[in-house]
Amino acid sequence: KRVAVLISGRGSNMNAIIAAAMDPAYPGQVVAVIANRPEAPGLEVAARHGIAAIAVDQRRFSDRPSHEAAVAAELDRFSPDVVCLAGYMRLLTEPFVQRYRGRLINIHPSLLPLFPGLDTHKRVLAAGMRVHGCTVHFVTERMDEGPIIAQAAIAIRGEDTEETLAARLLHAEHRLYPHALKLVLDGDARLSGGHAIFRPIPP
Ligand code: GRF
Repeated sequence: KRVAVLISGRGSNMNAIIAAAMDPAYPGQVVAVIANRPEAPGLEVAARHGIAAIAVDQRRFSDRPSHEAAVAAELDRFSPDVVCLAGYMRLLTEPFVQRYRGRLINIHPSLLPLFPGLDTHKRVLAAGMRVHGCTVHFVTERMDEGPIIAQAAIAIRGEDTEETLAARLLHAEHRLYPHALKLVLDGDARLSGGHAIFRPIPP
């Protein structure tokens, strides 16, 4: 199966997916990486792996719909089965989400539905939580709200700061994202009627 990844920054989750997909037993391969900013460091990482790495610079477009149409045109050249958002820091419009519905997934650094939005580590600490985590979900119209595919939790330590927590959670993200993507690629998790449906695990 063919996987495309959308990024805005360093692309460490993208890199985790690329690394997982190097295993011949993994059900997908990364065929393209697209960034909305040409300076996104992850583009170079992808190119070094011989993967098509494309910038669709949002500053060259007057509005969000025209930028997204250009992103979709690039994506469609690679006929992706699944599109992964990995630190893609731009809200998507409804037509884009509709176009890839059921094939568009995102990773968010909290245990959704808790802490949607930005600055999750800081807010988790401020709330006095003793666990934190990450979520991979199908993307639907509302930000950080789509049906959950997989989650991982980590314990919060007494000495944790926003930085230490973010770093430890990032390791969990790097394990979770390839696993969640595999569930989707294998058809073990799919979107149906606005819900995530899971194939039962045989006894
Ligand atoms: C990750 O924490 C991800 O959960 C969030 O943005 C960050 C992206 O990091 N959506 P990277 O670009 O994958 O390193």
